This record gives sequence, C-alpha cells and structure tokens, in this order.
Amino acid sequence: MLKMICAGALALALVPAMAMASDSGKLNPAGEKLYKSACIACHSTGAANAPKLGKGSKKVWEPLLEKGMDEVVSIAINGKGSMPARGGTKADDAAVRAAVEYMVSRVQ
Ligand code: HEC
Repeated sequence: MLKMICAGALALALVPAMAMASDSGKLNPAGEKLYKSACIACHSTGAANAPKLGKGSKKVWEPLLEKGMDEVVSIAINGKGSMPARGGTKADDAAVRAAVEYMVSRVQ
C-alpha cells in the first residue's frame, strides 16, 4: 500500500519535469541522450580543454559558432585535437548534430 502511494507521488513529481523538458524547444531528444552518454565527460568539466557549457560559456562558444553551425558540427564529427571524432562513439551524423545543437542550447 505504502509502495503504491510512493509510486504515485513519484509519477506526479515526474510529470512537470517531463512537460518542461518537452517545452524547451524543438531539440531532437537523441541529442541530449548522446550528450549525456558521451560528451558530458569532457564538455561539462572542460577536461582536456574542451569548451564548457553553462554559465559563462558564451565567450568560449561565440567565436566557435561564428564559423557557422555546419563547420562546428563537422569538427564534432571528424574530431580536432583532443576532441575525438563523434566523441568516441559510433553515433551517426544526425545524432552528432543533435548533440551539438543540444550543447549550443546550453551555452549561456
Ligand atoms: C575526450 C574529451 C571529449 C569528448 C568525450 C567530447 N569532446 Fe568535444 N571537444 C573536446 C575538446 C578538447 C575540444 C576542443 C578541440 C580544439 O579546439 O582543439 C572539443 C570541441 C568540441 C566542439 C567545438 C568544435 C569547434 O567548433 O571548434 C564541439 C561542437 C564538440 N566538441 C562536440 C562534442 C560532442 C557532440 C561530443 C559527444 C558526441 C563531444 N564533443 C565529446 C573534447 C571532447
């Protein structure tokens, strides 16, 4: 009985979070998934000098984005320096692009 109440409370707590996530634009959810499984290790901490996300990251990303999204995506696909091609995954081009779009959406 207690278990049922807990599950109910959990479901209620999850609903607004899920609604918020789907409200946050038309991002391909595959991008966030790939980011969280493969890219976050370097790009959330700045490991190996990876351009970080979040507060204050705008000044790092603005010059990168000046070359245009296609070029930035192509670096993510082909790799550059310590940035492994496709973040070291076998993700296809569309998924890598979606991950980059997700990352860019987190630049502040
Ligand atoms: C092993 C650490 C590491 C992982 C994992 C990683 N990156 Fe990176 N990434 C880097 C580093 C380091 C750079 C900076 C490369 C440079 O400029 O020399 C970079 C740069 C980038 C850039 C900027 C490209 C530009 O315009 O210069 C993008 C976009 C990017 N990564 C996307 C991704 C995506 C998407 C993933 C996951 C699929 C990913 N990265 C996983 C380390 C990583």
